[in-house]
Amino acid sequence: MEKNQIKAVIFDLDGVLTDTAIYHYMGWKMLADKLNIPFDEALNEELKGIDRMTSLNKILARGNIDLSEDDKNLLCDEKNAYYVELIKKITEDDLLPGAKRALIELKNKGYKIGLASVSKNAFSVVESLNIANFFDYIVDARTINRGKPNPEIFIACAEAIGVKCHECIGVEDAVAGIEAIKRANMFAIGIGRRDILIKADIVLESLKDFDIDKLT
Ligand code: BG6
Ligand code: MG
Repeated sequence: MEKNQIKAVIFDLDGVLTDTAIYHYMGWKMLADKLNIPFDEALNEELKGIDRMTSLNKILARGNIDLSEDDKNLLCDEKNAYYVELIKKITEDDLLPGAKRALIELKNKGYKIGLASVSKNAFSVVESLNIANFFDYIVDARTINRGKPNPEIFIACAEAIGVKCHECIGVEDAVAGIEAIKRANMFAIGIGRRDILIKADIVLESLKDFDIDKLT
């Protein structure tokens, strides 16, 4: 990344700004248990950042289970209803450490801020967290044809903000998300573990360690 070229930071939501990754996990684990499909940490990592139906398909493949589209839609609805119950209690206090400070700092320093989440619940979570005003653009997951690891969502966000991809930093907790950022030709910050987010340009333990001045 060349110094001074960064104009925007595009964040993932679940697992980056707030700990909804655990609620998605609980929802999928509930379904997997019901279907008697083993659900381990590796499968959970594979599901992070992946849209709802693709996630279900991966779980069913693990259990060698073949279902009709109607049955799969019912299971997706069931997982989502469970998830929506869990996120009802989200407030500003559920922002992860460093998230609010990072958003304030970026805004004050004149960077554009985007949100690129494949979650169809993203707008509601952002409202509950009371951070909607920080974003120059929030991608509507319903408008995206190919989910992460395809770069479409990050490219669409950069275009909507009015910046070039190489002028963006993407921030992600998921392997699929880091892959999407790199394929979009952006600088990738991983939030989590270096041994998992191996394709990230840098990995931070949390947004507490995020310092835009050290990166640009
Ligand atoms: C991503 C999560 O942000 O959104 C995934 O990392 C989740 O775990 C995906 O499956 C889709 O979310 P939703 O709310 O549309 O089911
Ligand atoms: Mg995520």
